[in-house]
Amino acid sequence: MHSNEEMQSGITVIGLGRIGCVTAGCLAETGHQVWGVDSNAARVASVAAGHPPFHENLLQPIIERAVKAGKLTAAGDLRLALSQSSVVMVCINTEAPSVNDPALQGLVHLVNDILQAHRDGIFNGTIVIRSTVPPGTCDQLIRPMLRSSGLGLASNPEFLREGSSVKDFMEPSIIVVGGETPEHIQPVADLYTSMGCGVTVVGLREAEIIKYACNVFHALKICFANELGDLCSALQIDGQRVMEVLRSDTKLNASAAYLRPGFAFGGYCLPKDTRALNVCAGDLGLDLPLLASIMSSNDRHLSRAIDAVTELGKKRIGVYGISFKGGTDDFRQSPALTLVNELNNRGMEVLLFDPTIVAVQQNSPSVAIADSVLDRLSPNLDAWLTTIDAIALTQAAPAETMNRILASGLPILDLASNSVFAPKLMGVHA
Ligand SMILES: NC(=O)c1ccc[n+]([C@@H]2O[C@H](COP(=O)([O-])OP(=O)(O)OC[C@H]3O[C@@H](n4cnc5c(N)ncnc54)[C@H](O)[C@@H]3O)[C@@H](O)[C@H]2O)c1
Repeated sequence: MHSNEEMQSGITVIGLGRIGCVTAGCLAETGHQVWGVDSNAARVASVAAGHPPFHENLLQPIIERAVKAGKLTAAGDLRLALSQSSVVMVCINTEAPSVNDPALQGLVHLVNDILQAHRDGIFNGTIVIRSTVPPGTCDQLIRPMLRSSGLGLASNPEFLREGSSVKDFMEPSIIVVGGETPEHIQPVADLYTSMGCGVTVVGLREAEIIKYACNVFHALKICFANELGDLCSALQIDGQRVMEVLRSDTKLNASAAYLRPGFAFGGYCLPKDTRALNVCAGDLGLDLPLLASIMSSNDRHLSRAIDAVTELGKKRIGVYGISFKGGTDDFRQSPALTLVNELNNRGMEVLLFDPTIVAVQQNSPSVAIADSVLDRLSPNLDAWLTTIDAIALTQAAPAETMNRILASGLPILDLASNSVFAPKLMGVHA
């Protein structure tokens, strides 16, 4: 056994399943000294004999090579492995859907065992949670257990796919490390220096939820393609060809476009065409729940925005942006108009500012703008800012405008980027 003062450089991987075996084998392959631990004796014996306990392409020779070279030691004894390690990577199976779920107790017990090893002077390093765990697990469950121990804690979710796990590990599409301090993050980032892929550093909760977000996005894409394929088949259209062409647009379709939390969608086309495709499916007797849910998802998102503005408790609300998106004077089906009308219905006075509409009004007087908009429209930013008690942004404002808005000292609800840290859902800059 080693004292806390002695610096160990090995890595303990707990859980020799599909993730743990690939992690242990590939880290050993890239030169690390790895200890693999599992509560299942048969799995330990299998790895100790140089065989992964399941089939995975390319993994067998890696495990065999690592064991023969003495780079990977499969062990039933967690404390022995920890005594040789500065990093412990937790790769056990976890099915808990929420932080409060009793299924997370297995993880809690394991962290307690590591903590005990620390108290006994056996381990003094960083605990890395590689298993997929509900957002908040590290913050709410594990961090409080480690308080005052001095042990590091990081989240390092795995994104590999069974069948191509080894390739995915060695050539990762993304490496995410969540942690609170550089001392906790660096030992994990250092494990991947040979991968030639930058490490994305985030907070613990972000790291945890990014894993779920990626998997759910994959699931969403599969269901979208399948529902569209079913619709195409019913219409005697080649769905493969349709999706091939859709994918070939890497500017708007298979791209970062539209993938930011923000305000509800609207405008002339998106609502109309979403409804049309659903009517088409209905006429064919097709039940396509994903496509059918899009409009109600958008409506609920807008309702939450309206509730968030209401909860500000202010009388005169300044809404920035009335057209359905920035840079256009088109406010057909604009969700901002729905917001304005509903705030009015709830007894609030609403004053609008929209730089595009103001410019159109000044420069192109022949362009008709609805009285319902003109009646509430401020002619300039300063006039608007002096007549309102709070601001709801439905569009991103240019930097100079945003600076003046911030300088007003008014409460701001940023509906255009609702991922800002905030009470409830939206960003409130008090
Ligand atoms: N399988 C995938 O493709 C994949 C991809 C990314 C992330 N993940 C996540 O990685 C985690 C592991 O998944 P997996 O597919 O490797 O699971 P798995 O069931 O194949 O392996 C888990 C291993 O952990 C061992 N184990 C459980 N509790 C233990 C404990 N207290 N001490 C020691 N060993 C223990 C089990 O005996 C088992 O061998 C899960 O959270 C999963 O969601 C899986």
